[in-house]
Order: sequence, then structure tokens, then C-alpha cells
Amino acid sequence: MELVRTINHLRAQIAHWREAGDRIALVPTMGALHAGHIALVGAALAVADKVVVSLFVNPTQFAPHEDLARYPRDEAGDLGKLGGAGAHLVWAPPVSEMYPEGYATHIVVEGAALPLEGVFRPHHFGGVATVVCKLLSAAMPDVALFGEKDYQQLAVIRQMVRDLTLPVLIQGVPTVREPDGLALSSRNAYLSDDERYIAPMLHKAISEVARGRDPREAADALLTVGFSKVDYLEVCDAETLAPYVAGSERPGRVLAAAWLGKTRLIDNVGF
Ligand code: PAJ
Repeated sequence: MELVRTINHLRAQIAHWREAGDRIALVPTMGALHAGHIALVGAALAVADKVVVSLFVNPTQFAPHEDLARYPRDEAGDLGKLGGAGAHLVWAPPVSEMYPEGYATHIVVEGAALPLEGVFRPHHFGGVATVVCKLLSAAMPDVALFGEKDYQQLAVIRQMVRDLTLPVLIQGVPTVREPDGLALSSRNAYLSDDERYIAPMLHKAISEVARGRDPREAADALLTVGFSKVDYLEVCDAETLAPYVAGSERPGRVLAAAWLGKTRLIDNVGF
């Protein structure tokens, strides 16, 4: 497995593979990898000949008060895991490679980016869309894979790719969970023992709503078991993320974000 830092090196390696007729997959990540990320690499290996993983903690998707500075970083550990998983190339650019002096272009997505996270983290998806567009234009993969764990992010990326007619297939990968239902996340490391014990209730609550429980009742139940705040717990159309129309035949998705102390957890399930 090779490690490159610059877009030039990335493109040279990918061009070499393309000459041999290889199909290329890109798995964008911010590092601090766990089994959820590794599942994306596994899914990528199933649909492509060469798998490129990017490791880049993207500053533009964090608001000034968010956890950019304390975001976990472990490049050596990540490289070990990716080598074991069978990735072919790791691209870990410095911030100056992605946002050089004078950088001035930002992508703003509306539609799927507006509700839910869009209300509570208004600039987040602009940063995600901008960096994902840059990652895609640097690597120009045939397929890029994203986790359903960040379901709204997946919807926003699909919207951007469709709107900008980018020639790449976006593939979603199901959420990897702990045995008790908690979705794997780098932020789980921030939970105290007590918080970790309560955390799986989030998945339980949204699963009950997917089976028909009233969402307000489920949000109240989260506060009762020890969550400090529920930003949202909503039933949405799985594609547009608009509020779900009762009685509709369309696929739905229950999405939630809730705080356990200083840690904000998000999760979602389909129905
Ligand atoms: P990051 O949080 O590192 O996640 C990288 C990818 O792993 C995302 O597609 C995310 O949905 C997926 N993922 C995380 N936890 C998962 C789990 N438990 N099961 C399945 N997939 C999981 O998401 C980002 O980085 C960034 O916003 C990024 C897209 C890289 C842009 O900066």
C-alpha cells in the first residue's frame, strides 16, 4: 500500500492504474478509523480493482466552537488498519494542499442539506460538499463510497453529484454497529462509562419510531434515560429528507441527533 500527500502524486498513481484498465474506488475519511470505515473499504474492494482512501480532517466542515482541535488523529494506526483491509493507496494531504493560500471557492447545497443537521450546523454541509467535490475532482474515481451512518451527508453528496453532473457513482454502505446497537463513531471515544451505557438507547428509540411509535414520545424517553438534549428526532422521506407524509408508500428514514453530556451522537434507520 502506498502513501501519497500531494494531488500530483495521487493523480500519477491513478493514471498508471487507469492505463491498465483498472476501475477506481475512493473512500473519503477523516481518519481515526474504526470497523465502520473498514466496511467501506471492504465494499469498495467488491466493486473496484483499486481502492484509494483519503485521510483528511477537513477544517471547513467544523464550526469555530466545534471539536476540530480535539478531533482524534492516529495516522500510523490508520495506515496499519488500511493495509490490513487491502486498500491500495492512502492519500493524506496537508491542509495547505487542499486549501492553499488564496483559496476562495465554496459549494453550497440546498435541498437535502437544509433540514435536520442543516438547522443545527448551518455551515457543516457546505464544508462537506466543498471538500468532497475537491476529493472527487482530485482522484476522479469511478465510484465513491459513503456510510449510511451519516445518512443526510450521503443524501447531500448525491444531490451535489446529480446537480453538478459529476461523472461518479455514489454508493451507500449500511451502518456498522456495536452488538448493543450503538453505531460506531470516532466520537464514541469521548463517552464516559455511564454515557456509554445509555448511548444505545438512541438506536432503540429511532427503531421504535420506525415501527410506528410517536417521535415526540421517543424523544422524551431519551431525556428520561439521561440524554441531556435532543436536537431532532424526525421521520423523513428517505430520498428528499422532507417530512414524511403519513400513509405514504415511499421509503422513510428516522433520523436523530442527541447529546450525552458534551458528546453529540447522530443515528438513523430506514423503514
Ligand atoms: P468520517 O466521519 O471519517 O467518515 C468517513 C466515512 O465513514 C463516511 O462516509 C461515514 O458515513 C462512514 N462511517 C462512519 N461511521 C460508520 C459506521 N458506523 N458504519 C458505516 N459507515 C460509517 O464523514 C466524514 O468523515 C467526512 O464528512 C467526509 C465525508 C470524509 C468529508 O470530510
